[in-house]
Amino acid sequence: MNFIRFSDLCAQGQARGQRVFIRADLNVPQDDEGRITEDTRIRASLACIRLALDAGAAVMVTSHLGRPTEGEFSPEDSLAPVAERLGELLGREVPLISNWLSGVDVQPGQVVLLENCRLNKGEKKNNEALARQMASLCDIFVHDAFGTAHRAEASTYGIAQFAKVASAGPLLAAEMDAISQALSAPKRPLVAIVAGSKVSTKLTILQSLASKVDQLIVGGGIANTFMLAAGLPIGKSLAEKDLVGQAHAVITAMKARGAEVPIPTDVVVAKTFAADAPATVKKASEVAEDDLILDIGPETTARLAAQLKAAGTIVWNGPVGVFEFDAFSKGTEGIARAIADSPAFSIAGGGDTLAAIAKYGIEKQVGYISTGGGAFLEVLEGKTLPAFEILAQRAAG
Ligand code: 3PG
Repeated sequence: MNFIRFSDLCAQGQARGQRVFIRADLNVPQDDEGRITEDTRIRASLACIRLALDAGAAVMVTSHLGRPTEGEFSPEDSLAPVAERLGELLGREVPLISNWLSGVDVQPGQVVLLENCRLNKGEKKNNEALARQMASLCDIFVHDAFGTAHRAEASTYGIAQFAKVASAGPLLAAEMDAISQALSAPKRPLVAIVAGSKVSTKLTILQSLASKVDQLIVGGGIANTFMLAAGLPIGKSLAEKDLVGQAHAVITAMKARGAEVPIPTDVVVAKTFAADAPATVKKASEVAEDDLILDIGPETTARLAAQLKAAGTIVWNGPVGVFEFDAFSKGTEGIARAIADSPAFSIAGGGDTLAAIAKYGIEKQVGYISTGGGAFLEVLEGKTLPAFEILAQRAAG
């Protein structure tokens, strides 16, 4: 997909002295006191901001934080903690500007943070007047918010329509390059891990990947529904019985192409869903009526680990067991360590997956860690995200 890269504009000196408006995704988790608990997205936005500053631009950055009511400011919706963290990471003060729609005072070489853009009326519905007002604040618009690339809002889509120049920031471009590398021209075998509690929330992803990947590893509640489709007992485990037919169709479609959905041959079960519930390893064919499947077993883990080590490309979304409980974490740990040891190019995304990566400390061994939650999933579904659609449109003139 063709789009104008902000890094090219900077390299050509086109950002010097220009007013640059960066839409970042600084939507980070906070505790009850508003303290930032995880700052990956802020760190990931630094490259673009530094690029703009080094290029001699006057830099405005904005983001949403949470889902506030438009037009109604509450202190917990403020980007103030983000401005502070950004300032620490950049080693300079980052002033936070409220009521910025009517004009922003910022000089070349300076950076300011514009208060939560979802406080502006019309943001979510991509109001044209609001988008035009934002576009008029800048010479160059930079979309660098991959985590919000699946939304068509005024600060992500409308502004890109009306700004003099609309470009992709380095994070947005890197995310797209990494995902294209994994899915468009992958080194094979291509293995995808799709796990989560419900088939229904990931059915379109499973269907889309079924036509692309060589092995589709399913985990969590999704695996339970696939086990039912394979004729295995699952006791009282979470599953969606009405989607067994769809799971069967995925298995059949994969088989027809010589590809595979590896169904667990052993599992870890408990009688209750609790961290201290006694864990028992069982053959998948021997799950009792009152058992809850909470992880894959050691034989299955070893088989999947071998497949991951032999893979050319790995796409990972979702832990395969209740990895938050130590007794049921070994499957996810085994998968994580196999990905870390595999020579394959790996890409991972999604909140729980990132938590598992952090728990096992394998950040450096994963090829690319996406900052996208919903956006990452929509790319896996094969959708063209609004951010890329509008940037490509603008690049085409
Ligand atoms: C996310 O956290 O996935 C993004 O920041 C998008 O947030 P949203 O789902 O509120 O649009």
